[in-house]
Amino acid sequence: MPGSGTGIYAHIVGWGMAVPEGVLTNKDLEAIVDTNDEWIRARTGIRERRIANERESTATLGYKAAQQALEVADILPAELDLIIVATSTPENIFPSTASLIQDWLGAGRAGAFDLSAACSGFVYGVNMATQAIRSGSIQKALVIGAETMSRVMDWQDRGTCILFGDGAGAVVLQASDVEGGVLSAVLRSDGSGYDLLGIPTVGSQDVDMDKVGANGHKMYKMFMVGGEVFKFATRVIGESVKEALEIAGLGLEDIDLIVPHQANDRIIKSAARSLGLDKNMFMSNVERYGNTSAASIPIALCEAIEQGRVQNGDDLVLVGFGGGLTWASMVVRWGVPEPDLRQATRFSKQRRQISYSVSRWRARSRRWRRQFNLHVTRIHPERGRVIRLRRKIDQYDSEDL
Ligand code: UT7
Repeated sequence: MPGSGTGIYAHIVGWGMAVPEGVLTNKDLEAIVDTNDEWIRARTGIRERRIANERESTATLGYKAAQQALEVADILPAELDLIIVATSTPENIFPSTASLIQDWLGAGRAGAFDLSAACSGFVYGVNMATQAIRSGSIQKALVIGAETMSRVMDWQDRGTCILFGDGAGAVVLQASDVEGGVLSAVLRSDGSGYDLLGIPTVGSQDVDMDKVGANGHKMYKMFMVGGEVFKFATRVIGESVKEALEIAGLGLEDIDLIVPHQANDRIIKSAARSLGLDKNMFMSNVERYGNTSAASIPIALCEAIEQGRVQNGDDLVLVGFGGGLTWASMVVRWGVPEPDLRQATRFSKQRRQISYSVSRWRARSRRWRRQFNLHVTRIHPERGRVIRLRRKIDQYDSEDL
């Protein structure tokens, strides 16, 4: 098996997804911009998308998807070594969304970071986790693709706002000596397409901080040159799928299912044509969720599993493309334990629930102690009693951490 010199393989053993309840239909969009249901359906295949409410965010959606994935994998948060969140809509520039989710889960032994590779981010993240597992340095990783694209839409730009939606998907990867799992990956970038698709933010060289830059891009709002991105996408899907298959030692005839980034149904049809494959070989749910960027592949994967389209021994291809420009393909030989062996036992289910609650309380009490500590030193820095109290708190903090 290519790249498996260590005899360690990385298998996907858990999966989960979360989408907001709020639905925005094409008809609803007619009241916002100059568009219509017929145009959107004909040019994109999208009928509706999910939109986060004010209590939902990239982290809350990612957290829900992660909980489900841990449930399916039947592992405890404390067993995770690494958490990667692929996102273009993080909660902050830093701290990372991954760190927030790490804390909420109570994954006390995991490293955590966000990954920025736009709509290819999930495949990039799964490959990063796979490499870490194969090297023997970690055993279990959680990879999440999570987005609240609705927050970075320019709701006056009909060329973009009709396309995107919110959601999250997650997988758990685990080391195994059983051959299979992630067999190959091809990650690519062409930064010359930097100005075709993006979200300008702090530090941007071509955006005036007074909201609009010389090139007309709005700060924190997504821009896209749709036609160019369309051409790029249809070209790279075919090329990179073939390359990933070749590295895995497989051919097009071996593929059981392709799970592509869900950007536009016409892109999927065109990729199927260029590869000479039936459109049914491609998982598509863009009709119901629109383009959820880094979340679209794990959401589509979850729904493909739910629909019984993924069986043990199947060879799947995941393929993403988007801002950067970036693109990525990956071949996965599906091989998780039989469902009855994966059923979460009530005992471990309860332990996971306890981990989430304890984690919430621990985070609150740590914050409270830090605030209290700060308050005490600011108000009475010179008082011996307070200084003694402060030393005690410091000692408590360092023991706890
Ligand atoms: O996830 C990242 C990757 N992103 C993608 O892969 C997106 C790739 N691009 C696309 O999917 C397509 O380019 C779009 C769906 C964005 C646009 O479709 P298109 O077929 O390329 O349309 P167009 O931009 O060439 O526009 C065709 C016509 C234009 O009118 P005229 O100039 O022919 O009179 C547009 O003004 O459609 C018009 N138009 C619209 N009409 C109604 C553009 N957007 C809309 C709209 N509603 N929302």
